[in-house]
Amino acid sequence: MNSHQSPPDRPVRYELHIAPLFRRIDRDHMAFAFDISDPATFYEADGQPKIDLIRGLYDHMTGATTPLMPPVHAGGPWPREWLDLFARWINEGCLRLELGTAQYRASRTSATQVRLAARVELPSSDHETWFERVDSSEAPYAYCLVVEPPVSDVPPATSDLRFLVEELNDFPSGLSSILVADAGGSHVVDIAEDAPESRAVESWFA
Ligand code: HEM
Repeated sequence: MNSHQSPPDRPVRYELHIAPLFRRIDRDHMAFAFDISDPATFYEADGQPKIDLIRGLYDHMTGATTPLMPPVHAGGPWPREWLDLFARWINEGCLRLELGTAQYRASRTSATQVRLAARVELPSSDHETWFERVDSSEAPYAYCLVVEPPVSDVPPATSDLRFLVEELNDFPSGLSSILVADAGGSHVVDIAEDAPESRAVESWFA
């Protein structure tokens, strides 16, 4: 392997590092007890983690409590690194991504391409934000506007204005809107069929 700079140490977050570890078969076979693909299985409505349930899952996955999960005859157990990651997530407080608030615009820029843009107000320039694509039964193109707080607990000094752009290639011609969920709820963003004159998305929000 080539030598490279280590990425910055950052906390484990449910949506990025934990949810992808669960397979479709885990979801199917555990449906009798809970929906392992649903964040509501892991978090209360007020955002607090369901720590007893989460510790219970961990104990089944390490084999401390039987039956060992996932079972050996169904792809289990997890590798040690995955269990360590899950344990680190618990120790760090079962953190998750946050949702932001923004204004949205969408515009068709060619026959096959749509540009989705957001004007996002962040608590500080150390916060990260991006469009996370999600599966939705309500729309073929659905996103969440996620926000990742900085590692430091120092309160932000100044807020930050950020413009996000997501280029959607091979976009179906018949589709006229995109669904975006954020801290304010679900937004249907209508796609303007006339490409704006300026490519600078800042001007879209003027
Ligand atoms: C509270 C924690 C859990 C309990 C009490 C539990 C219990 C069970 C039980 C009773 C079964 C059916 C019997 C069996 O096949 O052994 C089962 C099946 C299964 N569980 Fe869990 N489970 C838990 C967590 C998990 C987790 C976290 C995963 C995935 C990471 C998982 C994956 C599976 C799979 C893949 C099967 C199907 C096995 C098969 O094909 O026979 N379970 N679980």
